[in-house]
Amino acid sequence: MNRIFSGIQPSGNLHLGNYLGAMKNWVDLQNDYECIFCMVDMHAITVWQEPAALRAQTRELAAGMIAAGIDPEKNVLFVQSQVAAHAELAWVFNCVARMGWLNRMTQFKEKAGKNRENVSAGLFAYPCLMAADILVYKATHVPVGEDQKQHLEFTRDVAQKFNIDFGREVFPLPEPLIFGAATRVMSLRDGEKKMSKSDPSDYSRINMSDDADAIALKIRKAKTDPNPLPETAEGLEGRPEAANLLGIYAALTGKSLADAVAEAAGMAFADFKAKLADAAVAMLGPINAEMARLRQDPAYVDGILKRGGEKAAALAKPVLDEVYETVGFLRP
Ligand code: TRP
Repeated sequence: MNRIFSGIQPSGNLHLGNYLGAMKNWVDLQNDYECIFCMVDMHAITVWQEPAALRAQTRELAAGMIAAGIDPEKNVLFVQSQVAAHAELAWVFNCVARMGWLNRMTQFKEKAGKNRENVSAGLFAYPCLMAADILVYKATHVPVGEDQKQHLEFTRDVAQKFNIDFGREVFPLPEPLIFGAATRVMSLRDGEKKMSKSDPSDYSRINMSDDADAIALKIRKAKTDPNPLPETAEGLEGRPEAANLLGIYAALTGKSLADAVAEAAGMAFADFKAKLADAAVAMLGPINAEMARLRQDPAYVDGILKRGGEKAAALAKPVLDEVYETVGFLRP
């Protein structure tokens, strides 16, 4: 039985990079796997979050997932803090994982920087909570990007140490699920920087909430170089902005990069941008409209998440019971 768990932080607004890099792949996964999609608000508060904004972003993220085509009936779509078993198992894992393992996490080192003494203890223990997210469902597969590979390795280490310490095969070792052509969407202002919710310029990204006019305007203003588009994919070498725009076009239209390059060969940027804008609006327009509709009906979204949380809690309960029994807690 294959079961996928995936987590996404509600710590900012969704943009095209999130969509093409992750969400679009998840929409496809739901046909082949049992999928559990979790909005990890407890991970988000490892760094400061404005409470009202966190709540609004959690709803907005759920709306984005539903609008993008994640079926909340077929899958489990829920909010991490609504299922207590995540925090409960994370505590057990705090006691299984070693300080040395946590000290080696590159994401912690990067996020803490020189400020180690003054970041939250939660930021340090973050990987234990992530391991709990995955293992409390005994998930077998986790879609991960490059930046989360080390956390999944950590999860496997925790599962294995738990099994060995207690002499029972409680947890499967979850496998990474790497997408063939995961699109790395770069900033529209700098083809060498990732598209990011924290970039100060809103022109650097296409938000899932942007309407058709905003999308077209941002693409028109996107940085380019002075030459026409190349005839072959090799011609993209050293031209990060051209590579980014063609990569986005290929992902939006479901074409290979080679086919996209062939289609745009020799075009002036201005003409290609018009094509790209049409493709972006065709893909994002309906999602945007559905998100706008869902934004008007927060009670509907909240209800979906509540039911998702109930389904998740029912799946997690027997696993947490098994863990508590295994570690020797006196059960009621
Ligand atoms: N750490 C992940 C990120 O920042 C989010 C996450 C939390 C996650 N729990 C998870 C991803 C479990 C996959 C599985 O992107």
